[in-house]
Amino acid sequence: MTVPELKIKDLHVSVEGKSIVKGFDLTIKGGEIHALMGPNGTGKSTVASAIMGHPKYQVTGGSALLEGANLLDMAVDERARAGMFLAMQYPSEVSGVTNAEFLRTAINGRRGEGNEIPLMKFLKTLDKKMDMLEMDQKFAERYVNEGFSGGEKKRNEILQLMMLEPKFAILDEIDSGLDIDALKWVAKGVNSMRSENFGCLIITHYQRLLNYIKPDVVHVMMNGRIVKTGGPELALQLEAEGYDGMKAELGIKDDETVEA
Ligand SMILES: Nc1ncnc2c1ncn2[C@@H]1O[C@H](COP(=O)(O)OP(=O)(O)O)[C@@H](O)[C@H]1O
Ligand SMILES: [Mg+2]
Repeated sequence: MTVPELKIKDLHVSVEGKSIVKGFDLTIKGGEIHALMGPNGTGKSTVASAIMGHPKYQVTGGSALLEGANLLDMAVDERARAGMFLAMQYPSEVSGVTNAEFLRTAINGRRGEGNEIPLMKFLKTLDKKMDMLEMDQKFAERYVNEGFSGGEKKRNEILQLMMLEPKFAILDEIDSGLDIDALKWVAKGVNSMRSENFGCLIITHYQRLLNYIKPDVVHVMMNGRIVKTGGPELALQLEAEGYDGMKAELGIKDDETVEA
């Protein structure tokens, strides 16, 4: 079996007519975990939303190939079925639908008619994964994210990730608002997914999470594109120098629009 590959080439995205992402390139192979760092408002979430097909984000150029097929040509549900997963910066609440129902529907949606997961197998797997995340079983019967604390929502996103077993995941600020214990559970969940059939892009502001999830590659994004790529030491450098230090090093001015 060949290792899956996600290849984003020269992606351009506009929001409400304003150009936000301006020539974004990134290739992730199965087995790799990449971190994407960058100041607020630089377009990190916009990249994630565009790849997942959020209708507000207008792709004006480029491609995002998952094993050779362009995600950008697919409907949102097709992107999920193709193996993409997004843990959102602000997970939404789904009132009236329990977590267990939601997960089972999502899993079966991916597996397709006639290939549904047997109920007992589903419940066993759910039990096991919730245990691993030290989530109370009552969360299975609560409505999706309704009344969850910030940390519980993030942990629930990781539960979805572990249950759906996508080929590629984008985790958008999965660490924001987490205390140190929650951070460790999130890391444990992501690390449990590590295999050559799974690739991951972790969008984060802080090096902290990367102490627990070791990235293979770290990218810095500014003004709508990746301006520097390196190893885990790049995250440490950012922590020490801040984005201003990196801007100075790369000769990037504050409001400069980087032309792709
Ligand atoms: N839905 C939206 N409506 C209007 N502007 C948006 C929307 N999403 C993003 N933007 C704008 O695009 C820019 C990049 O935002 P975002 O991708 O969220 O940045 P980051 O995730 O790097 O902090 C910001 O100026 C933001 O205000
Ligand atoms: Mg963001």
